Amino acid sequence: MIKNCLLILLMLLPVGLAQAAGDAEAGKAVFTKLCSGCHKIGPYARAAFGPQLNGVIGRQAGHTDDYKYTEAMLNSGIVWTRENIARFVKDPSGMVPDTRMKLWWLGNDQRMEDLLEYLQANP
Ligand code: HEC
Repeated sequence: MIKNCLLILLMLLPVGLAQAAGDAEAGKAVFTKLCSGCHKIGPYARAAFGPQLNGVIGRQAGHTDDYKYTEAMLNSGIVWTRENIARFVKDPSGMVPDTRMKLWWLGNDQRMEDLLEYLQANP
Protein backbone atom coordinates (compact mmCIF):
# COMPACT_ATOMS: atom_id res chain seq x y z
CA MET A 1 0.00 0.00 0.00
CA ILE A 2 2.66 2.50 1.03
CA LYS A 3 4.70 1.36 -1.89
CA ASN A 4 1.82 2.11 -4.25
CA CYS A 5 1.35 5.57 -2.85
CA LEU A 6 5.01 6.31 -3.28
CA LEU A 7 4.86 5.18 -6.86
CA ILE A 8 1.93 7.45 -7.59
CA LEU A 9 3.71 10.33 -5.90
CA LEU A 10 6.78 9.75 -7.98
CA MET A 11 4.68 9.74 -11.12
CA LEU A 12 2.99 13.01 -10.22
CA LEU A 13 6.15 14.80 -9.20
CA PRO A 14 7.53 15.69 -12.65
CA VAL A 15 4.16 17.08 -13.70
CA GLY A 16 4.05 19.31 -10.65
CA LEU A 17 7.55 20.55 -11.32
CA ALA A 18 6.83 21.22 -14.97
CA GLN A 19 3.94 23.46 -14.00
CA ALA A 20 5.81 25.38 -11.35
CA ALA A 21 8.83 26.12 -13.54
CA GLY A 22 8.65 28.80 -16.17
CA ASP A 23 8.27 28.33 -19.89
CA ALA A 24 10.55 30.50 -22.02
CA GLU A 25 8.22 30.48 -25.02
CA ALA A 26 5.32 31.75 -22.93
CA GLY A 27 7.75 34.20 -21.34
CA LYS A 28 8.60 35.64 -24.72
CA ALA A 29 4.96 36.61 -25.16
CA VAL A 30 4.95 38.27 -21.74
CA PHE A 31 8.12 40.17 -22.64
CA THR A 32 6.67 41.30 -25.97
CA LYS A 33 3.53 42.55 -24.30
CA LEU A 34 4.92 44.16 -21.14
CA CYS A 35 8.60 44.96 -21.69
CA SER A 36 9.49 45.26 -25.37
CA GLY A 37 8.04 48.76 -25.69
CA CYS A 38 11.08 49.95 -23.73
CA HIS A 39 13.58 47.04 -23.73
CA LYS A 40 15.23 45.07 -26.52
CA ILE A 41 16.63 41.57 -26.33
CA GLY A 42 18.47 39.36 -28.81
CA PRO A 43 21.61 39.55 -30.99
CA TYR A 44 20.92 43.08 -32.26
CA ALA A 45 19.55 44.50 -29.03
CA ARG A 46 20.62 48.04 -28.14
CA ALA A 47 19.53 50.62 -25.65
CA ALA A 48 16.06 52.01 -26.32
CA PHE A 49 13.93 53.93 -23.84
CA GLY A 50 15.33 51.38 -21.40
CA PRO A 51 18.60 49.39 -21.45
CA GLN A 52 18.89 46.18 -23.47
CA LEU A 53 18.26 43.11 -21.34
CA ASN A 54 20.54 40.45 -22.80
CA GLY A 55 22.09 38.43 -20.01
CA VAL A 56 20.37 40.58 -17.42
CA ILE A 57 20.14 37.73 -14.92
CA GLY A 58 23.28 37.94 -12.80
CA ARG A 59 24.14 41.41 -14.14
CA GLN A 60 25.01 44.34 -11.90
CA ALA A 61 22.40 47.12 -12.14
CA GLY A 62 23.36 50.01 -14.40
CA HIS A 63 26.06 48.17 -16.35
CA THR A 64 25.20 48.18 -20.03
CA ASP A 65 27.54 50.55 -21.85
CA ASP A 66 25.14 52.23 -24.29
CA TYR A 67 22.48 53.41 -21.85
CA LYS A 68 22.39 56.47 -19.62
CA TYR A 69 20.91 55.30 -16.33
CA THR A 70 19.43 57.41 -13.57
CA GLU A 71 21.66 58.10 -10.57
CA ALA A 72 19.15 56.09 -8.57
CA MET A 73 19.80 52.98 -10.67
CA LEU A 74 23.56 53.53 -10.82
CA ASN A 75 23.76 53.79 -7.05
CA SER A 76 21.32 50.99 -6.26
CA GLY A 77 23.98 48.30 -5.84
CA ILE A 78 21.50 45.70 -7.07
CA VAL A 79 22.53 42.46 -8.73
CA TRP A 80 19.74 41.25 -11.00
CA THR A 81 18.92 37.85 -9.57
CA ARG A 82 15.59 36.32 -10.54
CA GLU A 83 14.15 37.40 -7.18
CA ASN A 84 15.32 40.99 -7.61
CA ILE A 85 13.95 41.25 -11.13
CA ALA A 86 10.59 39.95 -9.94
CA ARG A 87 10.55 42.48 -7.10
CA PHE A 88 11.57 45.37 -9.36
CA VAL A 89 9.05 44.55 -12.09
CA LYS A 90 6.20 44.34 -9.58
CA ASP A 91 7.07 47.71 -8.03
CA PRO A 92 9.94 49.59 -9.71
CA SER A 93 9.94 52.74 -7.61
CA GLY A 94 9.23 50.76 -4.45
CA MET A 95 12.59 49.06 -4.96
CA VAL A 96 14.56 51.89 -6.62
CA PRO A 97 13.00 55.24 -5.68
CA ASP A 98 13.48 57.75 -8.53
CA THR A 99 14.08 55.10 -11.18
CA ARG A 100 12.95 56.09 -14.67
CA MET A 101 11.19 52.77 -15.16
CA LYS A 102 7.48 53.02 -14.55
CA LEU A 103 5.48 49.87 -14.91
CA TRP A 104 2.20 48.49 -13.76
CA TRP A 105 2.74 44.72 -13.65
CA LEU A 106 -0.38 42.96 -14.84
CA GLY A 107 0.90 39.41 -14.66
CA ASN A 108 0.66 36.66 -12.07
CA ASP A 109 3.30 34.37 -10.54
CA GLN A 110 3.23 31.93 -13.44
CA ARG A 111 3.76 34.74 -15.96
CA MET A 112 6.66 36.00 -13.88
CA GLU A 113 8.29 32.55 -13.90
CA ASP A 114 7.80 32.35 -17.68
CA LEU A 115 9.28 35.81 -18.15
CA LEU A 116 12.31 34.98 -15.98
CA GLU A 117 12.82 31.79 -17.96
CA TYR A 118 12.83 33.82 -21.17
CA LEU A 119 15.35 36.30 -19.75
CA GLN A 120 17.51 33.41 -18.58
CA ALA A 121 17.41 31.92 -22.09
CA ASN A 122 18.93 35.12 -23.55
CA PRO A 123 22.45 35.35 -22.20
C1 HEC B 1 7.76 52.28 -19.93
C2 HEC B 1 9.07 51.75 -20.27
C3 HEC B 1 9.49 50.46 -19.58
C4 HEC B 1 8.83 49.25 -19.53
C5 HEC B 1 7.46 48.92 -20.13
C6 HEC B 1 9.70 48.33 -18.83
N1 HEC B 1 10.86 48.96 -18.46
FE1 HEC B 1 12.46 48.13 -17.48
N2 HEC B 1 13.44 49.91 -17.51
C7 HEC B 1 12.96 51.07 -18.12
C8 HEC B 1 13.92 52.13 -17.93
C9 HEC B 1 13.77 53.56 -18.42
C10 HEC B 1 15.00 51.57 -17.20
C11 HEC B 1 16.25 52.30 -16.67
C12 HEC B 1 15.89 52.78 -15.28
C13 HEC B 1 16.84 53.78 -14.65
O1 HEC B 1 17.93 54.06 -15.17
O2 HEC B 1 16.45 54.26 -13.57
C14 HEC B 1 14.66 50.17 -16.97
C15 HEC B 1 15.47 49.26 -16.28
C16 HEC B 1 15.20 47.93 -16.14
C17 HEC B 1 16.07 46.97 -15.50
C18 HEC B 1 17.48 47.27 -14.96
C19 HEC B 1 18.46 47.02 -16.10
C20 HEC B 1 19.91 47.33 -15.80
O3 HEC B 1 20.73 47.25 -16.74
O4 HEC B 1 20.27 47.65 -14.66
C21 HEC B 1 15.46 45.77 -15.56
C22 HEC B 1 15.97 44.46 -15.00
C23 HEC B 1 14.18 45.97 -16.20
N3 HEC B 1 14.06 47.29 -16.54
C24 HEC B 1 13.28 44.97 -16.46
C25 HEC B 1 12.05 45.16 -17.10
C26 HEC B 1 11.14 44.08 -17.41
C27 HEC B 1 11.41 42.60 -17.13
C28 HEC B 1 10.05 44.65 -17.99
C29 HEC B 1 8.76 43.96 -18.45
C30 HEC B 1 8.04 43.22 -17.43
C31 HEC B 1 10.28 46.08 -18.06
N4 HEC B 1 11.51 46.34 -17.50
C32 HEC B 1 9.40 47.01 -18.59
C33 HEC B 1 11.75 51.23 -18.77
C34 HEC B 1 10.78 50.26 -18.91
